[in-house]
Amino acid sequence: MTTKDCILAIDQGTTSTRSIVFDRNAQALSVSRREFPQHYPEPGWVEHDVEDIWRDVVDTAKEAIEQVGGLSRIAGLGITNQRETVVIWERATGKPIHNAIVWQDRRTAHECARLKQEGAEPMMRAKTGLLLDPYFSGSKIAWLLDNVPGARLRAEAGELAVGTIDCFLLWRLTGGRVHATDVTNACRTALFDIHTLQWDPELLQLFNVPEAILPEICDNSGRLGETDRELFGESIIIGGMAGDQHAAMVGQVCFKEGTAKSTYGTGCFMLLNTGEKPVVSRNRLLTTIGFRINGKTTYALEGSIFVAGAAIKWLRDGLHLITHASQTDDMATRIPDSHGVYMVPGFVGLGAPHWDPDARGLICGLTLGSTQAHIARAALESVAFQTYDLAHAMREDGAMQASTLRIDGGMAANDWFSQFLADMLEANVERPRDLETTALGAAFLAGLATGVWNTLEEVTATWQQERVFTPRMEPNQRQTMIDGWHDAVRRTLTVQP
Ligand code: G3P
Repeated sequence: MTTKDCILAIDQGTTSTRSIVFDRNAQALSVSRREFPQHYPEPGWVEHDVEDIWRDVVDTAKEAIEQVGGLSRIAGLGITNQRETVVIWERATGKPIHNAIVWQDRRTAHECARLKQEGAEPMMRAKTGLLLDPYFSGSKIAWLLDNVPGARLRAEAGELAVGTIDCFLLWRLTGGRVHATDVTNACRTALFDIHTLQWDPELLQLFNVPEAILPEICDNSGRLGETDRELFGESIIIGGMAGDQHAAMVGQVCFKEGTAKSTYGTGCFMLLNTGEKPVVSRNRLLTTIGFRINGKTTYALEGSIFVAGAAIKWLRDGLHLITHASQTDDMATRIPDSHGVYMVPGFVGLGAPHWDPDARGLICGLTLGSTQAHIARAALESVAFQTYDLAHAMREDGAMQASTLRIDGGMAANDWFSQFLADMLEANVERPRDLETTALGAAFLAGLATGVWNTLEEVTATWQQERVFTPRMEPNQRQTMIDGWHDAVRRTLTVQP
């Protein structure tokens, strides 16, 4: 008999889906990845066809399983996902009633501004740890209910189900048997009280969302269901589920209070473990649930930047400046500085700490001497500057003492960027052996529930550092660059701080 010592992790991100099989040493044995189309029906709107997502989840999972010779070593499956993106589907058929509205979508900016004006933000903030911004799912759910013909009536009659992507995948993977979401995804909906760990009636009323469509809530690690036999030949235990940023925290083994990680995917999200107590930010950061394992909730402070890798994707697909993201490393290294060029990647508004949904992108400081390399470098620099703003806010909140930040995600592979980040933060930047930390975190969660790992200590022991970047820039030079960045940001803001 073969030992079941591996986990299949599905990482459903904003622009791509990956399935990876990890063994007990946290080594990736197989990887399958697909990018999928983004839909922009109007300026500021972003949608996904959930059937594209579902097809890629099944296909990549099958490929990853095949690459390791079948299911014999797979003990369980973990799911991690782009957060806040919402789908509403028919309970009877599993069919979505509309494209998913993606977390980057700003269509409800007006509605959120109205609720803010009516004074709803303090109550919402106290319960959810979030701010009134179209980023979160609540206003998006209401939009779907009000704009898809008949949806609200059908929702009230119990015919429809809503969920973030984790929840939709769990439903489909279990053949419609389980309608549940985990605490980390629930806490991004703006409908969930992070203190009571329940859907909150006052918030449901605020966003006008009927309780009948909401899923059950579960911990991040535990037996959540089994995959439908038809899908992969045999059923697989689904043992873990978490929003991608929370999974990355687990993948970076940030289990101790004071540890922090920053993940560079489509956006960049920096999470600091604040232990058993939720910390309230005075600098417009979010209070969120880090993870809930064995019935114990660990909270985190989060800085959310909406555009990180997406800026590099834009250089590739929008400007056709590069053909592969990795070229930016070389382009940035070849020039001594960005020649005064700054990019503020406010393509979908600005997140923390500005929270300005109407801000838009900007490239400034151009001269006749500016080249493609300066623009590419400005794009990379903008991501580091934004991380600086988050770290600064965390320090101002008195929450961040750590002089080390763990990084992961696609951009973390870029040596130039990682060094520049260390310079801007004046902190050591640690890069792990495997940058697919988000998927690894989902694997850890599922592996803890299925006996691949038994304790958090066992999980922690698998973490390996590949390289550490230490700060080496002169303080004056650093400050000049940061001042230039703040000047550029001020030009994009529609609400002055
Ligand atoms: O909150 C949005 C976030 O979960 C998206 O993550 O990795 O697709 O940038 P990512």
